[in-house]
Amino acid sequence: MRIPRNHFYRLSVVLFIASSLPVVIGAFAQQTPPADAPYKDANLSTEKRVADLLSRMTLEEKASMLAGSGWMESTPVERLGIPAIKMADGPLGVRSWAGSSAITNSAGNPAKVLTTSFPSGVAMAATWDRELVQREGQAIAQEVKALGRDMILGPTVNINRVPLWGRNFEGYGEDPYLTSQLAVAYIKGVQGEGVIPSLKHFDTNNEEFERHRIDAHVDERTLHEIYLPAFKAGVQEAGVWTVMSAYNKLNGIHCAENPDLLTGILQKEFGFKGFVVSDWGSTYSTAATVNAGMDLEMPGGSPMRSWLNTGQLQATGSGVGWLTADKVLAEVKAGTITESTIDANVTRILRVIFESGIFDHPHLGGGEVDTPAQRAVALQGATEGIVLLKNTGNLLPLDVHKLHSIAVIGPNAAVARTGGGGSSLVKPKYAIAPLDGIKERAGQSIQITYALGVSMEKEDPVQDTPEARAKSFGEAVDAAAKADIAVVVVGRYPKLESEGFDVKTMDLPAGQDDLIQAVEKANPHTIVVLNTGDPVTLTRWIDQTPALLDMWYGGQEGGHALASILFGDANPSGKLPVSMPKRFEDSPAASNYPGQNLKVDYAEGIYVGYRYYDTKNVEPAFPFGFGLSYATFAYSDLRVAHRKEFAGKVLSDQFLATLQVKNTGSRPGAEVVQLYIHDGHSKIDRPIHELKGFQRVDLQPGKTKTVAFTLDRAALSYWSPENKGWVADPGTFEIQIGASSRDVRLRAPLQLKP
Ligand code: BGC
Repeated sequence: MRIPRNHFYRLSVVLFIASSLPVVIGAFAQQTPPADAPYKDANLSTEKRVADLLSRMTLEEKASMLAGSGWMESTPVERLGIPAIKMADGPLGVRSWAGSSAITNSAGNPAKVLTTSFPSGVAMAATWDRELVQREGQAIAQEVKALGRDMILGPTVNINRVPLWGRNFEGYGEDPYLTSQLAVAYIKGVQGEGVIPSLKHFDTNNEEFERHRIDAHVDERTLHEIYLPAFKAGVQEAGVWTVMSAYNKLNGIHCAENPDLLTGILQKEFGFKGFVVSDWGSTYSTAATVNAGMDLEMPGGSPMRSWLNTGQLQATGSGVGWLTADKVLAEVKAGTITESTIDANVTRILRVIFESGIFDHPHLGGGEVDTPAQRAVALQGATEGIVLLKNTGNLLPLDVHKLHSIAVIGPNAAVARTGGGGSSLVKPKYAIAPLDGIKERAGQSIQITYALGVSMEKEDPVQDTPEARAKSFGEAVDAAAKADIAVVVVGRYPKLESEGFDVKTMDLPAGQDDLIQAVEKANPHTIVVLNTGDPVTLTRWIDQTPALLDMWYGGQEGGHALASILFGDANPSGKLPVSMPKRFEDSPAASNYPGQNLKVDYAEGIYVGYRYYDTKNVEPAFPFGFGLSYATFAYSDLRVAHRKEFAGKVLSDQFLATLQVKNTGSRPGAEVVQLYIHDGHSKIDRPIHELKGFQRVDLQPGKTKTVAFTLDRAALSYWSPENKGWVADPGTFEIQIGASSRDVRLRAPLQLKP
């Protein structure tokens, strides 16, 4: 029988005090434990089982658990029946665990792990759909189990600080509240299946530039308001079982050996009781790492040794092989690590092994891979995540009955670009490219022509000559001129947008802006589709473009999703989870990126994304939260009620904001209603507004629904370094209800009494 998961956080920690250890260890160590040893009893509490098991372990066994045994496996202790935790990369689906992404992403990859490729994190964030993200987590966890693994390395919750971060596509955008909400949903979906997630990368891994050496300098308030909330929510609202420490330094100390971060904030402030796993190759010391509360170094065993032998570590600055048992034991002998510290670290690992159920049922299996239900989640995510940015003269949706021909053009038209590169890139059984999806949906009556237009840098040497380029370009313009409609699919691909390096420029890769301009000149009915993870510069053509969609990296169902939006089978409902600046130079961290002398100063502080654009009046190309629909929505009747409620014995502030939303269009649709708070009276400087609530509402034409938000004091608070805590200054706040951060439709005051 499984122990209810919430016991994990309710029970107090029963750690063995160092002084009692010798006696207990003397009694049990090395013996084969009896069949009725308490730790084997699934009916006992996790804490009792952990305490009993720990008491039976030798120091050597405990030390061995602090490092992995393989590329993706922790170290088992067979004598006691402690299984290895078998991991697989995520977060966008389950990846082959055979080795580094350099190996598994290579063309000759020997691993045959084909799983569902879900949309990128930024696409899922554009859905603003908690329930869907939870189902995605659940679907991924079922694939993890089916493949005999126990743990999925995700979700990625690093904030989009700079539009050029190579991994922006993996995360949930620029806002800490949206990111937190979706992270909680993903974790609940995964843990609900008894699979272990890993909330990553803790913390401030916001650029790939020199990711092992870069030192992020971030003030305390900015950390708490922008870069920590998703981790806090993962711990406190979802009870996440593991957190992955980041590669970089934070305020001078590598994250994996940073006691302020791992002990001070994660354990003490947030109450985290699970274990911290290092990012692969992110440890740089033995005693400092163990003492800081970094529990499990990955990878380990022979993959770690061969990695050490390659000499690559020095070039990149990676670190590994520091927590091997011999090194840890030598530090114990030297007195720099105490046995009780090792007990605490091993306790955190064992707790998760029991709590997740993998002790009682190691590698249980039982899930499924690539089922219709999993495909449906991938399709729904890809569809809901598409953002309609422009639709002049209602060019969209297309009417199959009125069209004769469509030219489908661009380097991302005929190839399914499911995700960005690196450790998150999943190999699916199939993937639908935009061209496939459009052809399938258009049917026989519409003639579809395809033209590459421009080839992607370094993709196909045959296309990469000046002659071939000129020919492709001409063919595309020609195809556009002859068709009723042109659809140009542009963007990047994993060789240009990936973990491991940042995107060089916000501009589209070479030739694509020219292509869009030439196609638009040849055909005024041109629809531009962005198929990429990071924002791109649109200025050269956006004014002439009648219709613009962002499909991000949409996973294996991206092409179907796009076709369903183009032809109106689905009504666009995605909203931007990131602001789209006009130029890179406009973005808040532009002058503090990538840093100097391996130090990056987060000088923009809390002014990240719309907090910056909206407060400082810098107009973006498209604002945070923006997205059009084929329907229209009217907002009315905002009311804010203050009620004091008894929560236990504590009188806490609660506010209820309600409003009406009506579908005033002629199609069913979904609107994402956003709630921002404006604090004009605080003692310290605050952004003009901050997102504190959102609801996706499905509405039939002509129908109205009531949308309700509950707010507490925390939603009104800022982090006060002076008080070392969250503070809400009494006074009048403004509740703003918007269809984007720059389209506030309703406002109402909210009084916070002292
Ligand atoms: C990435 C992690 C990933 C790990 C294992 C690292 O390079 O930063 O996100 O989970 O590799 O593949």
